[in-house]
Amino acid sequence: MIVEKDPPEHTELRKLANQGFTTRALESWRSIIENTTEQLLDNVQNYGGMNVVSDLSVPLPTVILTKIFGVPETDRAKFIEWAMDITTFFGVLGGSNIEEFARKADLAAAQFSALIRQLIEQRRRQPGTDMISLLTVAYEEQGFNLEELPSLCIQILNAGLLTTTDLISNGVNALLTHPEQLQKLKKNPTLINSAVEEIIRFDTSVPFFFRIAKQDLTIGGKDITAGSVIALGLGAANHDPQKFDSPSVFDITRSPNEHLGFGSGIHFCLGSVLARMELTICLATLLRRLPNLSFDPDKQAISTKHTTLLLKGFDSLPVKF
Ligand code: HEM
Repeated sequence: MIVEKDPPEHTELRKLANQGFTTRALESWRSIIENTTEQLLDNVQNYGGMNVVSDLSVPLPTVILTKIFGVPETDRAKFIEWAMDITTFFGVLGGSNIEEFARKADLAAAQFSALIRQLIEQRRRQPGTDMISLLTVAYEEQGFNLEELPSLCIQILNAGLLTTTDLISNGVNALLTHPEQLQKLKKNPTLINSAVEEIIRFDTSVPFFFRIAKQDLTIGGKDITAGSVIALGLGAANHDPQKFDSPSVFDITRSPNEHLGFGSGIHFCLGSVLARMELTICLATLLRRLPNLSFDPDKQAISTKHTTLLLKGFDSLPVKF
């Protein structure tokens, strides 16, 4: 995976991967995000309530990614199933039957790769603005082996799915548990960008990431031997009182807000602009269309049970409007 590679291999791969996220491409995806959010809310608008997870935060990034990848309508259901099998594997709880999850993910990756290969062939003949077209052109122009492109696509898909799903749910939860902040945002919708940054700081969907020490080191007076696995507590760093005033206060006007929700350094999140765009559009549309949004007092919100340290979100988040 790109995230597990070191320079110089990482530098080359990252340069290629960046070609899938050009400013022009991102702008062309804006309307996909807007239309998909509107459609998902159309589906529930007349019901007076929904489950944020199953009705919005799971389908939104999934549909967006299928459209961004240019997956044909007929293959979308399979694509979503494979994507879930692959990403779920990375969120499997210790102690569960990891072999079974691994086998499912492996099969999904093989089938997904076969579909991507077909799409690469099509896009070579007829390039569009979808991510596979952009990456195919980049690989060819820079003389890279197109056989390796499906693997990068799987990594992008994997990194962009549950992270965004969980962040949308965490964002809705943070706003509903802080009604005064929600009111502030409703009164002044231009605060949406700053609110999104605070959501990422306050309750990031990726609280930990991992590194392997290449050499012996000492960090904060603690000796770490080469080869050790280090869990980077990004969520904890985002609540560091030496960095943030009153870190446990959720303040949508917080400034500066230099959180580590998207990591730092050479592995800084490749999809951060897309993730921010998804969250901004999704929350702004939600508050505009459902101004009376509140928790459903008759149903219980359930935090994710199945995830590792890597992901944090909700399995269920019932709301009324
Ligand atoms: C809210 C959503 C997201 C969060 C919180 C998040 C968080 C992160 C973090 C913390 C890293 C750094 C990992 C490290 O330091 O080793 C990372 C890397 C990465 N992210 Fe995201 N991410 C999100 C959404 C996305 C999306 C939507 C995509 C793509 C569609 C994406 C693609 C990637 C990739 C490919 C990397 C690896 C980059 C590299 O190794 O050079 N992410 N992400």
